[in-house]
Amino acid sequence: MRWWRPFTASVRDKVESGPVSGAARVALTYLSVSALYIYFSDRALRFFIREPDLLTAAQTYKGIAFVLISSLLIYLVVRKSDRENVRLLGDLDAKVKERTARLEEAMLLAESSDKAKSEFIANMSHELKTPLNAIIGFSEAMLSGIYGPINERHREHLGDILLSGERLLSLINDVLDLAKLESGSAPLDLRGFSLRELIRASGGLFREKMVAHAITMDYKIDDGLDEVVADQKKIKQVMINLLSNAIKFSPDGGKISVTARRLKDLIEVIVADTGIGMEEDDIPKLFQPFSRLEPSLQKRFGGAGFGLFLAKRLVEMHGGVISAKGKKGEGTAFTFSIPIRGDV
Ligand SMILES: Nc1ncnc2c1ncn2[C@@H]1O[C@H](COP(=O)(O)OP(=O)(O)OP(=O)(O)O)[C@@H](O)[C@H]1O
Ligand SMILES: [Mg+2]
Repeated sequence: MRWWRPFTASVRDKVESGPVSGAARVALTYLSVSALYIYFSDRALRFFIREPDLLTAAQTYKGIAFVLISSLLIYLVVRKSDRENVRLLGDLDAKVKERTARLEEAMLLAESSDKAKSEFIANMSHELKTPLNAIIGFSEAMLSGIYGPINERHREHLGDILLSGERLLSLINDVLDLAKLESGSAPLDLRGFSLRELIRASGGLFREKMVAHAITMDYKIDDGLDEVVADQKKIKQVMINLLSNAIKFSPDGGKISVTARRLKDLIEVIVADTGIGMEEDDIPKLFQPFSRLEPSLQKRFGGAGFGLFLAKRLVEMHGGVISAKGKKGEGTAFTFSIPIRGDV
């Protein structure tokens, strides 16, 4: 490598060879050139000038010349590096602008395709729900006998049609809810409400089913939960999904307990049942979409495996967490907590 190379190397070269080694090479080259210059120029002066006064004056001028030349060199090196920095910054700026523009384009494309997907799902759901409501409505009407008497076989098959229609409707509603969450068209609607009333009202929705299966529900709700701030509709959906599971997976005579309490800066709700429980290894699978632990029970219980997935998303939207604990044959407890918010 040529001795002047460190002075003229581009900033890119210096960066590539490492800033420390670049600086060290400049300093070393400068040191050796200066030492050689001082040594040989001094010897030359002594050789040519014998007169001591003249020699002293010549050495002074030589020193001044050295400082001038060094300053000029430093000026040239710094100027070159400044220019290069400006050029590199310009390049960098242009690249950043170009990439930002490309990113914006990609985001717009993703947003519009996401919106199109959600719109498609919403339209599709609507189209599916209209005939489904007719199927449910007419099978209910025929079962009630308003179109005339029906025999036992008809009753059985109409019952199947009604049950399947209701299950399909509930799945379509879940998919629609999820599409709304994904597309951001169902943002958090934070208001004050009574969690005590919400829990009791959610439990009330299952009264008939609980009476039919002799299932009891017991509430332990802390004082101070009469005014909480959250998205009432979404929390109700979480409660309904957890309670419907607790009832669905409990044998006749089962016991469900709902506990709600205020912890330091959290509200915690636990829904525990004395139902079929689950293997510990299966717990992580619960919150995945379409996960049903025991397909053999599916025929009996129905359900698409969407409820817990949706509940998790809704709790997480509040900045909360949901978890499950259970033991095969001994029941399950789901706990979710959301942060306490001030007035909105
Ligand atoms: N309380 C519970 N006790 C025992 N197993 C449960 C309980 N809750 C959920 N599970 C298991 O977790 C699976 C997933 O529950 P999830 O609520 O997501 O779906 P689902 O109830 O089967 O259907 P969907 O809620 O969509 O109608 C259930 O199929 C069941 O195997
Ligand atoms: Mg469910």
